[in-house]
Amino acid sequence: MVDVLAAEISRFVRAVGPEPDETLVEMDRFAEEHGFPHVGPEVGAFLRFVARLSDAERIFEFGSGYGYSAYWFADALPDDGGEIVLTEVDEDELEQAREYMAAGGYDALAQYELGDAVETAERYDGPFDVVLIDIQKHQYKDAFEAIRSKVPVGGVIVADNAISASVIEFEKLLDMVEAAQADDDAARRVIEAESNEHTRGIADYLERVSADPAFETVVTPLGEGIAVSYRVE
Ligand SMILES: C[S@@+](CC[C@H](N)C(=O)[O-])C[C@H]1O[C@@H](n2cnc3c(N)ncnc32)[C@H](O)[C@@H]1O
Repeated sequence: MVDVLAAEISRFVRAVGPEPDETLVEMDRFAEEHGFPHVGPEVGAFLRFVARLSDAERIFEFGSGYGYSAYWFADALPDDGGEIVLTEVDEDELEQAREYMAAGGYDALAQYELGDAVETAERYDGPFDVVLIDIQKHQYKDAFEAIRSKVPVGGVIVADNAISASVIEFEKLLDMVEAAQADDDAARRVIEAESNEHTRGIADYLERVSADPAFETVVTPLGEGIAVSYRVE
């Protein structure tokens, strides 16, 4: 019942949202055929929307896969002076991202970085107006620490898989967030011991960003859930 409702809502969001171009349609087909966990069209459209609202000139992605989220972002960047940094540990996926970005005419905007995204972020100078975190869940907090100071006031960090994913136990995540808010260390330790590392990674991330006075964070149930953190100071 809940799944049916979620599927209907997602269909509705897609119907109202911007039309994916031919390349995005092909990329969606690729994800479906290969079971690739891309952010999907609802979150893709939202990412581009965030980049437009922020007048983004520079974007950093932690975990670009075959380029799906980067492709959505790219159209919001200025042709002259815009930049998006794609990071990926898988060489074949990064090569595929390069081909898709070129097909959309976005190749000149993109920097392709093979290797660990957190290490890459540490090497780059800011500012980055928009950041996407979509890597291994236990690395989310490290990703935030690596990029935090490079996001100016008015910048936005979006973290995917903030609510649920097949690997994430939603009820436990909620318990962990509530225990953290209540400062109940004993409860948190018990829940943590029973949770998998994906859940712990997401809970640690949400606790870190929501306690950071420089950011205002809102979680929204698009796709697998995204945490959107806006830099206020
Ligand atoms: C869930 S996929 C999403 C990719 C992309 N954002 C999208 O929506 O299609 C995550 C990608 O991050 C890559 N990845 C995981 N950990 C990484 C790391 N530490 N550094 C760089 N890439 C990483 C994986 O190989 C995978 O391709």
